[in-house]
Amino acid sequence: MTSTPTTYHTVYDEWKNNPEKFWEGAASSIDWYSPWNKVFDKNQGIYGRWFTGATCNTCYNAIDRHVQNGRADQDAIIYDSPITGKKRTYTYSQLLDEVQALAAVLKDKGVTKGDRVIIYMPMVPEAAISMLACARIGAVHSVVFGGFAASELATRINDAQPKLIISASCGIEPNRLVSYKPLLDEAIEMAKLKPETTLILQREQQICDLIDGRDFEYTSLVKAHREAGTIVPCEPVASTDPLYILYTSGTTGEPKGVVRDNGGHMVALMWSMKAIYNVGPGEVYWAASDVGWVVGHSYIVYGPLLNGSTTIIFEGKPIGTPDAGTFWRVIEEHNVTTLFTAPTAFRAIKREDPNGEFIKKYNLSKLRALFLAGERADPDTIEWAQDKLNLPVYDHWWQTETGWTIAGNPVGLGALPVKLGSPTVAMPGYDIQILDDEGQPVEKGILGNIVVKLPLPPCNFTTLWNAEDRFKEAYLEEFPGFYKTADAGYIDEDDYLFIMARTDDIINVAGHRLSTGGMEEAIAGHPDVAECAVIGIADKLKGQSPVGFIILNIGVEKSEADIEAEVVKLVRQKIGPVAAFKNAVTVERLPKTRSGKILRGTMQKIADGMDWKMPATIEDPAVLDEITDVLKKRGLA
Ligand code: COA
Ligand code: AMP
Repeated sequence: MTSTPTTYHTVYDEWKNNPEKFWEGAASSIDWYSPWNKVFDKNQGIYGRWFTGATCNTCYNAIDRHVQNGRADQDAIIYDSPITGKKRTYTYSQLLDEVQALAAVLKDKGVTKGDRVIIYMPMVPEAAISMLACARIGAVHSVVFGGFAASELATRINDAQPKLIISASCGIEPNRLVSYKPLLDEAIEMAKLKPETTLILQREQQICDLIDGRDFEYTSLVKAHREAGTIVPCEPVASTDPLYILYTSGTTGEPKGVVRDNGGHMVALMWSMKAIYNVGPGEVYWAASDVGWVVGHSYIVYGPLLNGSTTIIFEGKPIGTPDAGTFWRVIEEHNVTTLFTAPTAFRAIKREDPNGEFIKKYNLSKLRALFLAGERADPDTIEWAQDKLNLPVYDHWWQTETGWTIAGNPVGLGALPVKLGSPTVAMPGYDIQILDDEGQPVEKGILGNIVVKLPLPPCNFTTLWNAEDRFKEAYLEEFPGFYKTADAGYIDEDDYLFIMARTDDIINVAGHRLSTGGMEEAIAGHPDVAECAVIGIADKLKGQSPVGFIILNIGVEKSEADIEAEVVKLVRQKIGPVAAFKNAVTVERLPKTRSGKILRGTMQKIADGMDWKMPATIEDPAVLDEITDVLKKRGLA
């Protein structure tokens, strides 16, 4: 793909031979208030901590230093919202003013270092400004994706116990306005510990009512401080202090609060901007995701801004806002050099514009590469994108827990040849191994559990908020000495990694990580449902799509169809529209092992038309025929 010979192998070996020296070198890209005592202290934290003793501030590194070093008038954020028809840019200097003004408001409201602030917002620049304002004063932000329902927000409020919540009156989806305020009110009503204050960004599309004494209007408070020129210095925090908590799906309905530190996070993100994405300061980098996901945290907000690049906040969809040419319009108009998105977005575009007619209408000469992550990048989609864009397309694999790439193609070090279906190779920092269920290494080419040898590199999560035991139990106990990724895959003879499936009950719907266990908990709350099982079945657009099998209580009076519709509504209500749960299917029985375990994996294979073997421990093989029939009848297999 490129003629530059790669230095990847040398760089990886440098890391492997002396990880501390490697990361110490990388840390010189960050401005620190005081240096570390140790690059890595294995005696701190659960598996050790990075840059212990050092103090720093993430907002300073993302904004102030660029303003001081000649980038004051360069665009930091370009907001492009085809869904509202609005565009706005913030130079680094304007961004500093906005962030300082909001930081002053937060301080007025009593938010101090270490306090948590929940951000529940659509894709507007104020979402990123809120994150940065928290970072500035040492508060810990927790962004909640707008597609989650009130009860999911309430769970996060209970766990994070925020002093304040920043939200907006509404979000805008192509088919509807999403009224955030009623969801927020409901969540606060449900929450055991209620935040004292909320800041609400009133959007002209829908103004909401504010509760006296609790809700305050964002824009006017920020404006007052902006106009007064209030200075809010960056608060030095320990490198190891938390920058944010980001909740992600676990195997139960209780989400996991992934905790990210300040110092290690900055160091690894800076390294990745150059070495993986090959993006320089002053260049325009676009991660078409949402600030509610880890991709949004790392590569809409922190990575590009730490790097002095320009980032794009895009409020729209790959299709329908207004058409499948939106991405290309944004790229041309804002001179995007690097695009990062989920394969789903490309599948959606490809479905609407199979011949790439829209692509031909725009000048994409600045675009150098496309990076895909968040779900498996199917070879068809990669080939289509390569062909139609006439550009290299790089898959890379990572997780909310890691915050940056575990395996990828380090373009800045000289790209390696692309193998379709593989995110390429382990990045420095990651010693990836494949173990069998007994914890023994397997041969090359053999499928197994993908694990990473401890310690995890900088930027990786240090614990789960309020749940250290769960952190150890979920990630560290099954394979002692390793981090369990919960992905299965194999490494080939060239050390390329292939990611094949999750080993737990997480599914990936349109690049969104969802817990089938969480959906089952919601469905079980329906009074007429005796038992249920949710699986993810293959979906041409979204990668996977959830299907819920339900067994009804004996003697229910309502029709199956009515109950199924209620179940669909219930999941939307409890988890949110993001669950994309549209199929509930009534069955007489669920296939189980003799010890009572539901055979979800076999059901999924049947639905996906894959080869499957009759499980030796199955209680009654006939149940699988019943499942096959019902799936066929519903057009789901
Ligand atoms: N706030 C409120 N609701 C939201 C939302 C948000 N921020 N984001 C999504 N939703 C809703 C959608 O409107 C949809 O509701 P509906 O059931 O009423 O139609 C539902 O959640 C499911 O959303 P999604 O699965 O995204 O389906 P979609 O049909 O709206 O869009 C794609 C499909 C492929 C266009 C879209 O998923 C996409 O752009 N994906 C890109 C991948 C991506 O950004 N991944 C993030 C991780 S990198
Ligand atoms: P999230 O934490 O939301 O980023 O989801 C992480 C999970 O998404 C991983 O554990 C994988 O199961 C899946 N995933 C992310 N990127 C890829 C990829 N490039 N290829 C295959 N699966 C991926």
